[in-house]
Amino acid sequence: MAINGVAVCAISVYSMANAVSWRLTLLSLLPIPVIVAVMYQIGKMVRRRFGKVQENFAAISDRVNENINGIRVIKAYVQEDGEVERFEKLNDRMVESNLSMVRVSASLSPLIELCFTVSFVLNLIWGGGMVLNGTISLGDFVAFNGYLSMILGPVLSIGRVINILQRGMASLTRLNEILDVEPKIRDSGTVDEFPAEGSVEIRDLSFAYPGSDRQALSDVSLLLPAGRTLGIIGKTGSGKSTLVNLLLRMYNVGDGRIFIGGTDLNAFRLETLRNGFGFVPQDNFLFRATVADNIRFFKEGYSGEEIRRAARDSCIEQDILALPKGFETVLGERGVNLSGGQKQRISIARALVRNPEILVLDDALSAVDTVTEARILKNLRRVRAHKTTVIIAGRISAVRNADQILVLDGGRIRERGTHGQLLEKGGLYRAIYEDQFHPESRGAENGRLP
Ligand SMILES: Nc1ncnc2c1ncn2[C@@H]1O[C@H](COP(=O)(O)OP(=O)(O)O)[C@@H](O)[C@H]1O
Ligand SMILES: [Mg+2]
Repeated sequence: MAINGVAVCAISVYSMANAVSWRLTLLSLLPIPVIVAVMYQIGKMVRRRFGKVQENFAAISDRVNENINGIRVIKAYVQEDGEVERFEKLNDRMVESNLSMVRVSASLSPLIELCFTVSFVLNLIWGGGMVLNGTISLGDFVAFNGYLSMILGPVLSIGRVINILQRGMASLTRLNEILDVEPKIRDSGTVDEFPAEGSVEIRDLSFAYPGSDRQALSDVSLLLPAGRTLGIIGKTGSGKSTLVNLLLRMYNVGDGRIFIGGTDLNAFRLETLRNGFGFVPQDNFLFRATVADNIRFFKEGYSGEEIRRAARDSCIEQDILALPKGFETVLGERGVNLSGGQKQRISIARALVRNPEILVLDDALSAVDTVTEARILKNLRRVRAHKTTVIIAGRISAVRNADQILVLDGGRIRERGTHGQLLEKGGLYRAIYEDQFHPESRGAENGRLP
């Protein structure tokens, strides 16, 4: 179509200039530069305004998504009207931006036609004069007019194409913003075998989250021999999750800081590294799938017996068998038909079934009652007897049997040792202990973990 249009224009202009009069042609085409300038200007405006339209559309989608996900919170806090109002505001903004975009994009064709009208008027006055004084024949004049009107169509289409193109460019710019994001964690390592001895060594590790100038971890050093259990305890915000997230390279750490089985963390291929871990994150997540699939996590190769054993060791087998279809029960949207503690235990089973070299439980027992917690810990001691395990907890009871316990506070290791050593020391750990086991004998708030 574009080639067709250009050809029509070229032949028409050639015929006009050659067969009729080049002076008249030049005069008639005088508005063309104006048209080009107008198209360019309007194109730029369409692009900018269409970008705005898309931003507003994205804002609406986000809002709807949030409102649907957070519907219970909204209702619980009687925020329905407020949310409707906010939604309407966004909609108004969307209408406004659309109107402002349409106003410019719709003016393109009339403006082009206006320029051509000027052309025709100039042509009528000048060309008509030429016919009257006999410079050109009436036939030539009619032909000339015919050619001129033939150019109008293609120019209008070019205008329309520019309009569409600019909208496309606006969308493309937004898309590229996403496509151009470089993954922060470069998978540049080459070691593709996870060490059979999953020891963990950390040397003078300090870390601040990107864009934050507060140190989430300061001068953390530790040596966890393979096959041992490390307990980490500390207040919310003391850096426990940060520490284990760094072990899985969720954020970048400099070379020479963390070693797994004696190999620098950064030397591992990312997949190898993460496959070596069984990680139960703090905010565990279940998928809309069967219980068995949630445990095997869509990885084939685990037998039904292995899945059952993982569930048994996580003290969730009985709960699962009580579900309508046992292990084949499909969990509802985001696993809503289970309690927090049950979800946590399924997440633990998911980590256990892999029998990982290093198991990390990030506050994974927080919603489990103390009796069940004790049973799970006992099972862990058995199945993890010769494997490395890291248990993060708020409760002393979850870490007291660990070979080594760290007490984190404000991103620093305040105390370390075994349960017995730490109690004897009479410091922060002791205070937490007193508070959790004999709260009546202490000032109410001292050392309490939130
Ligand atoms: N993604 C993040 N971006 C910026 N700061 C964070 C992020 N996650 C945690 N922090 C900050 O790092 C500190 C340690 O947090 P975290 O490791 O989650 O503590 P814990 O697990 O002990 O409760 C806190 O001050 C927290 O606000
Ligand atoms: Mg945490």
